Amino acid sequence: MNQGAAATINPPPAAHSRERAASERAQTLLARFHEVRNFTVELCRDLEPEDCVVQSIPDVSPTKWHLAHTTWFFETFVLKKWLPGYQSEIPEYAYLFNSYYNAAGDMHRRDLRGLISRPTVKEARRYRSSIDSSIDNLLSGADEKLFSEMEPIMTLGINHEQQHQELLVTDIKHVFAQNPLHPIFRERKIDLVPDKTSPVKFVEFDEATVEIGHDGSGFSYDNEGPRHRALVPAFSLASRLVTNGEFIEFIEAGSYTRPEFWLSLGWMTVNEQRWQAPLYWINREGTWWNFTLSGFRPVEESEPVTHLSYFEADAYANWAGARLPTEFEWERAADDCPIEGNFVENERFHPQPPVTPPDRHPGQMFGDVWEWTRSAYSPYPGYRAEPGALGEYNGKFMCNQYVLRGGSCATSGSHIRRTYRNFFQPEKRWQFTGIRLAHDPS
Ligand SMILES: [Fe+2]
Repeated sequence: MNQGAAATINPPPAAHSRERAASERAQTLLARFHEVRNFTVELCRDLEPEDCVVQSIPDVSPTKWHLAHTTWFFETFVLKKWLPGYQSEIPEYAYLFNSYYNAAGDMHRRDLRGLISRPTVKEARRYRSSIDSSIDNLLSGADEKLFSEMEPIMTLGINHEQQHQELLVTDIKHVFAQNPLHPIFRERKIDLVPDKTSPVKFVEFDEATVEIGHDGSGFSYDNEGPRHRALVPAFSLASRLVTNGEFIEFIEAGSYTRPEFWLSLGWMTVNEQRWQAPLYWINREGTWWNFTLSGFRPVEESEPVTHLSYFEADAYANWAGARLPTEFEWERAADDCPIEGNFVENERFHPQPPVTPPDRHPGQMFGDVWEWTRSAYSPYPGYRAEPGALGEYNGKFMCNQYVLRGGSCATSGSHIRRTYRNFFQPEKRWQFTGIRLAHDPS
């Protein structure tokens, strides 16, 4: 032992091992932080700066904005709170890259994000690197107490980054779809396509009182709780998603012009928007084509149908003599389903034909496309949003939206859970959204 070490007042052994455990947890969290942050950059690897600044509709944000906003999250909720004397290099970013957190200050208008040519994409990337370095320094030097305070917010920031990875993918798809050159985001991975889709089966569930919501082990969003008991009457659920081929039958039955299948608001929307097919579909001389992140190609009938509004999902279910499941039915049915499927890590960026389901439960329920449920997005019994800016994360959106379950080909497999509640307004179509049918007992 050297002199310097001998002169140090050592902490008691218990405190010492606590510090070491905190340091190991900090290193694990930092590794995860970098893994997720790097994947965002990896998703952009084939994009040119010109691709990264376009906002095609107000729902879509430019890639550059996603790169900067996810960084702003760590700067605002971690560095400004816990790094003593922290000063923003460019304080104006707080205004430009705040999304909707009123308690964190004023923000730039969402629908005008595409008008912001500065900072450049290069500067946005530099902003990322600078904040990442500060997070490195802060976390590496954190003692047990500080680490315990920061860990939940860092974990929230990592999950927030994954949500924006999904938006980045769906948003660049919408941007590229506007371009007559049909740019390719990523070359298609060729998979063996089954000759024909396996027939759909309806798996029956008896009435039961079930536990709904997250049990508190590991990370979850506040909208997944409180866990509570719910009575789920008997129902049956389809063993796989509705396919493109099945949806073409719905189109060919003239269903986009038959009001009897549609909700009133849906019928109004179909007529106003002149919808005749899912988003990104075009009929050329009697053949359906669709724009994908791997370019423009004929619609593959065995793939799950996607880019549908809630209105179209509901109308399809009516036409098929079925209905959409409730979120409670979905959560119950997914009880023993492994979280396996086609996620963003596969880098296919497109739904895949369903795998043949096993007999005992409704088959694969995660990945490919988010499944519309007929449940309005509302608080579970006893839910209260936390005070402060982060309380704005989910709670204030619990109005006029529907719950979607299961994740998509743009969702991280490490991000999705059985209790995960995604939500969108019923007319939205630019996410990877699809249909699984349910039935009441006959
Ligand atoms: Fe965000």
